[in-house]
Amino acid sequence: MRRKIVAGNWKMNTSLSEGLKLAEEVKNDAEKGIPEGVSLVVAPPFTHLAGVKEILAGSIGLSAQNCATDDSGAFTGEVSAKMIASAGAEYVIIGHSERRMFFRESDTELNKKVKIALANDLTPIFCCGENLHEREKGIYKEIVRNQIELGITGLTEDDFVKVIIAYEPVWAIGTGKTATPGQAQEMHAFIRDLIKSLYNAETASMTSILYGGSCKPSNAREIFENSDVDGGLIGGASLNAGDFLAIARSF
Ligand code: PGA
Repeated sequence: MRRKIVAGNWKMNTSLSEGLKLAEEVKNDAEKGIPEGVSLVVAPPFTHLAGVKEILAGSIGLSAQNCATDDSGAFTGEVSAKMIASAGAEYVIIGHSERRMFFRESDTELNKKVKIALANDLTPIFCCGENLHEREKGIYKEIVRNQIELGITGLTEDDFVKVIIAYEPVWAIGTGKTATPGQAQEMHAFIRDLIKSLYNAETASMTSILYGGSCKPSNAREIFENSDVDGGLIGGASLNAGDFLAIARSF
């Protein structure tokens, strides 16, 4: 059985003290119970990782939002997968559309990041998704296929089984506009088929594919009900512990 995962991407939000408080709230609320088989993950900014780790103490997964392509060296301002792992994180988001768009991260670079994350025992949460123009032109499947094929190039089956995919249509991120359950299911099934063609049916059925893009307590249930949707990567709504947990309880 593949894992159900609800991951909160805090993006560039919260001061350290606000972030620690939010982690505390998430932990306390989660202790009241979440559906069996659902894993929670939070992805705070780099500066908060070690502090949040102390609060979560293993009960909730910890993720970074990005990593460098190298382990160490003269790369001013970068943070490596090795450092992230040493701060206690188990996951790292790679290829978020904001990284692709604002920081011009290329598929080649993202492929390096996936590999270095795996080499440091971090689980990559690999993001893909088309923008509005690509959706309207009807080329969204091609776009997502390319992003995935290039992002995971060279990964053996043993490597790939550790990867989580997040499908996040760019036109739905932070816009309040969510993909319909039908649109989400169509793309998740497409991605699962693609994984089957790249690896095999078993690997495809074991891969968790998360949906992201204006997911909130009011729409999470209808999205999560789809057979190929295994959870969510939550932006805005993850900044409120009550909303984040309500989404997790939509399963
Ligand atoms: P959103 O962000 O939930 O605020 O739309 C999702 C994401 O970017 O991961």
